[in-house]
Amino acid sequence: MRTTVGIIGAGPAGLLLARLLHNAGIDSVVLESRDRAYVERRQRAGILEQGTADVLRAAGAGERMDREGLRHDGIELRFDRRRHRVDFPALTGGRSVMVYAQTEVCKDLIALQLREGGPLLFEAEALAVEGADTDAPRIRFRHEGREDVLECSYVVGCDGFWGVARKAIPARLTQVFERTYPFGWLGILADAPPSHEELVYARHDRGFALLSMRPPVTLHPSKEAASLPTEAFVSRLYLQVPDGTDPEAWDDERIWDELERRCETDDDWHLQRGPITQKTVTPMRSYVHEPMRHGRLFLAGDAAHIVPPTGAKGLNLAAGDVATFARALIHQQRTGSPELLDAYSQTCLRRVWQAERFSYDMTTLLHRAPGATTFEDRLQIARLERIVSSRAAETDLAEAYTGFPFGRAGE
Ligand code: APR
Ligand code: PHB
Repeated sequence: MRTTVGIIGAGPAGLLLARLLHNAGIDSVVLESRDRAYVERRQRAGILEQGTADVLRAAGAGERMDREGLRHDGIELRFDRRRHRVDFPALTGGRSVMVYAQTEVCKDLIALQLREGGPLLFEAEALAVEGADTDAPRIRFRHEGREDVLECSYVVGCDGFWGVARKAIPARLTQVFERTYPFGWLGILADAPPSHEELVYARHDRGFALLSMRPPVTLHPSKEAASLPTEAFVSRLYLQVPDGTDPEAWDDERIWDELERRCETDDDWHLQRGPITQKTVTPMRSYVHEPMRHGRLFLAGDAAHIVPPTGAKGLNLAAGDVATFARALIHQQRTGSPELLDAYSQTCLRRVWQAERFSYDMTTLLHRAPGATTFEDRLQIARLERIVSSRAAETDLAEAYTGFPFGRAGE
């Protein structure tokens, strides 16, 4: 097999890249080790920055997002039983975010790729990237029980944190920056209406809680069921738990009670409960692999960097990386100049490190580490007081949360 761009991984990074290249008339092949159902079912993030939503629209992949997604103009910070709304448009000159699950972004991009794009091979596991430092890199992969080789002009590793692409960069040429956290998130999906119209980030002595949501699922009532509800609401909720927690150690009642306690307020707010349909524990890590390029091999998304989910940056960084690569390759194909490809790693890392900074800040601001001292508790409250009382501090949060325009970060 032969293609211009070999893409490893059909998560948001690989799928969006394939779409951007297709629209520019550049052929690619996507190799995905899992099956379609797994990729479309995998619960991950749910917040799209303004820039990500704009890229999806420009790529012709935003129609269902605009129809079913929820535009959010703010979030609520909650601490000491107090509530404070951060008003995104007022602080950023009009920017907002879109609540639209990563699963739905992947479904939309898979449908487009299968209908209009180049080959998207599921259950095709990349075994190794070879010749990355030559003009003819190739991907050895296994598909339908047979080993094969995909000859490429460029390879983009969109294969996530556990992928193989990164291994093709010699260790002597790389630097890894990493921090792990002594806690993770117990994430649940519940058939319950949101308890607040926007996301709630709660700092509490018992630990962090996040109240998020998914757009309501439209039911198609039959004529006989005219009196039944036409929409099913879904809440996406998270609790900070100690590292290594077994989700089965938390029954539904314990989860709801703990969420209620950590989100307590002085007013009459209350938590909407309902049947929990999914329960998972996710560890937390900050990770950056530099450089994000070696010869004709480029890394994008979780293959190159990981952020703690507190700042909702993972999916948005992946989108920014592949938009940067697509723009650079299109420039090279049209002008013959490799300048943007040569600047790929540096361009992405400027934005990556700003997202790492913001994600670390939000995580240490809102989570109470095991063994936290009273000094650290007071420091968290002082940091929160600063944000809710200073337009400058609040603006920093709003700008980072809604995202820096692609190609410009932290300027
Ligand atoms: N061969 C082929 N496919 C592979 C291989 C391999 N050797 N290894 C991993 N993959 C696939 C995985 O099955 C997955 O579908 O690569 C894909 C990587 O997707 P993600 O992990 O979602 O990474 P990315 O596309 O960068 O998106 C980042 O996803 O993990 C979340 O929080 C993260 O929201 C962020 C987003
Ligand atoms: C989600 O809805 O899954 C979500 C929202 C905000 C975050 C993390 C996850 O910071």
